[in-house]
Amino acid sequence: MSLKNRSLVTIDDLSNGEIMALFSLADAMAKNMSEQNNLCRGKIMASLFFEPSTRTRLSFEAAMHRLGGSVITASDVGASSLAKGESISDTAKIVGSYADIIVIRHPWEGAAKVVADYAGIPVINAGDGGHQHPTQTLLDLYTIIKERRDLKGLKIALWGDLKYGRTTHSLIFALARFGADILFCPSPGLEVPEHVIDKLVTEYGGDVDMISATAKKNANNLFPVDAIYTTPNSPHQLAMMPDMSVQVELKGGVDALYVTRTQKERFTGKEEGQERKRYPVVDKKLLQDKVFRKTLVMHPLPRVDELAYDIDADERSMYFKQAAHGVPIRMALLAALLGVKEFDVPDVESPPPVSYPYYQGQPGPVCPNPRCVSIQPTETKYLKPSFKIVNTSPLTLRCTYCEHGFEPKYVASTDWHEHKLDTKKYHSAASHWAKYIRPENLIVFNTEEEAEAHGYKPSHFVGGQRK
Ligand code: NCD
Repeated sequence: MSLKNRSLVTIDDLSNGEIMALFSLADAMAKNMSEQNNLCRGKIMASLFFEPSTRTRLSFEAAMHRLGGSVITASDVGASSLAKGESISDTAKIVGSYADIIVIRHPWEGAAKVVADYAGIPVINAGDGGHQHPTQTLLDLYTIIKERRDLKGLKIALWGDLKYGRTTHSLIFALARFGADILFCPSPGLEVPEHVIDKLVTEYGGDVDMISATAKKNANNLFPVDAIYTTPNSPHQLAMMPDMSVQVELKGGVDALYVTRTQKERFTGKEEGQERKRYPVVDKKLLQDKVFRKTLVMHPLPRVDELAYDIDADERSMYFKQAAHGVPIRMALLAALLGVKEFDVPDVESPPPVSYPYYQGQPGPVCPNPRCVSIQPTETKYLKPSFKIVNTSPLTLRCTYCEHGFEPKYVASTDWHEHKLDTKKYHSAASHWAKYIRPENLIVFNTEEEAEAHGYKPSHFVGGQRK
């Protein structure tokens, strides 16, 4: 099997079997590093890093050098044509004609998808804003599997900034797919975004239970669990005894504690002052609790003040090993996407990809996420907003670029009103009509003014006259 010419934009782009195959390839490469230096001879990797990076960029570049390939780099927006107002699609087309593969890091969410859509060569997302960081997820999973053999049934706690931490977003979906349970321990105000939870539950099954204040108090005050995701196969004790739940869940200990730094650079103002509010630092003292007896302590790095240096020598600390795994993992990925290595994909259980209808209505809404690539002035000249209809009750649209979801307030149908302007009516999206509109006929509005500006009149469901 070959992954030739494929891109890795989100972790959904690889099946569980393909991920396991990449891990075997990485193992083989790590064992014989010096024998890989002819695999990518003559190939060029473009490394475009428009946000700070040490590990990701250097490990990608080291990986390409170890494969015998070459690297071209643009790492400063100020020094590239993006500073002159060039669109991402133009940059992608140009770099696509110079190189064989692109690795891109960009602050806008969905930017890597735009590059992949326009470059004409494989593209790897090395982090797009607060959206995803799929190659970090690969080396996180690889680290856990190396230490614990399997992910199924493990309890993984995610700690810190779960709102903007892109590494946790791709990791959440991968852990669910491989059958691990997740304990969410966010810093106050930095909880996992709703669209991530919605996708987790609707696409991977299982449940997310919010932990009550009483349960939190009764449990372990060192361990601020906010919510617990249990896979469809896990014994489900939470609903039965909500106030005991945390203790029950923690009885067997935590298999991995994935710590993240506060992503201050993505704060919008709402979160200022929230960070580090009574939030425990992961240090020697915390790890003395029996819950952490066998816990792998992980961190994508860089650390700021959430992870103490006093545990660096502790055998549970995995973060430097994790970073070191970046080279063989990225070597395997580059070789696979460039088509210089083929491999057998093991038969591993993988939830089937879910497909949703696209929203086709005109006028289309714009993505409400201010960091989405689709609303940036340089990109709106050619990029049409694009949404999938991921739920009809409540009606929910998901941006194809940044994957933020939103619930429009009003709906109409092209079918019911075709050519009859006087009966063009809009309804509340919460009314039962929303469910009956076929995806290809759906039109959504966020305000009544917007609906009326397009010639629609309120139906009696939104206070109009019944006729
Ligand atoms: C992470 C990133 O850039 O998202 N770092 C990394 O790639 N190893 C985490 C972070 O910056 O906090």
